[in-house]
Amino acid sequence: MKRKKIGLIGAGNIGGELANLAMTKQLGDVVLFDIKAKEEFAKGKALDLEQASTLSGSDARVIGTSSWEDVAGADVLIVTAGVPRKPGQSRDDLVGINLPIIRDVAENAKKYCPNAFSIIISNPLDAMVYEYHRVTGFPKSMVAGMAGVLDSARFSLFLARAADASVKDLRTMVLGGHGDDMVPVLSACTINGVPVSQFVDAETLDAIVKRTRTGGGEIVKLMGTSAYYAPAASAIAMAEAYLNDEKRLLPSAAYLDGQYGYSGFFMGVPTVIGGGGVEKIVEVSLTADEKAMLQKSVESVQSVVDVVKKSI
Ligand code: APR
Repeated sequence: MKRKKIGLIGAGNIGGELANLAMTKQLGDVVLFDIKAKEEFAKGKALDLEQASTLSGSDARVIGTSSWEDVAGADVLIVTAGVPRKPGQSRDDLVGINLPIIRDVAENAKKYCPNAFSIIISNPLDAMVYEYHRVTGFPKSMVAGMAGVLDSARFSLFLARAADASVKDLRTMVLGGHGDDMVPVLSACTINGVPVSQFVDAETLDAIVKRTRTGGGEIVKLMGTSAYYAPAASAIAMAEAYLNDEKRLLPSAAYLDGQYGYSGFFMGVPTVIGGGGVEKIVEVSLTADEKAMLQKSVESVQSVVDVVKKSI
């Protein structure tokens, strides 16, 4: 059996870490794609990673390229093409710059990788995944946005530290758009089945929710660019769930068709990811407060998706 092929569109900070994880976990051969002006950079990164593979013992190949022919037939595409945030910018500020980029990527994905499971990371996430799906015309089950896994990871870390618990035991769920009004679902957050409210007082929980919502911005402020280790690890968890048919229950930006009372756009919801891609959207019961927060998040997502729709 041939090794799977993982196409990484964007060879920047997240792209490089995605390649590193895909290679060390031996998910498949890795194609690190970037624009013509960054071709040598992508080739250099690929070579550096392949040299590291002799130490990790991975036989996966990594190539750098600016030619879509090299990406052709990929089983998984992970898209980070675009510009990241700078301090003071919101994710939504990126829409004008990243929209033509996601359209270019989608046209090529449609032509060269019609059977791939696509995971979109470029921001503003919910709008970019909407446009990628529209332009490719791929089945909705084969396109997902990576945000919820990352937001949940941030939430889990802060809770684990506050509760003095192991990160292994945290179970958290974050819904809504990948913006500052995302909805951490406290009713579904436990430390191995025990409600987090038993370990962390209400005031601390409130502060953790606030920190989770602005978790991306906190890093942008510190580094001058956006995060890459945790975003890459999050997308790789989704890719593994697909490639290994794991049926994992992971929050991801999925196309809503009536779930939670909404239709016609992508937003973060609990999904089952397995060999069929996004196989299911799971509806969890929400408190009145959580429903109100979700509605607010939906309005933010829709306002950016409307910008995209108006430019079609
Ligand atoms: N096709 C492929 N790659 C492209 C294209 C394109 N049309 N346009 C730009 N790129 C490349 C850039 O050349 C750059 O190498 O995308 C890469 C992005 O890398 P970084 O600037 O290092 O950004 P990164 O931190 O990886 O974030 C990428 O993910 O989280 C989001 O907000 C973030 O939208 C941003 C994206």
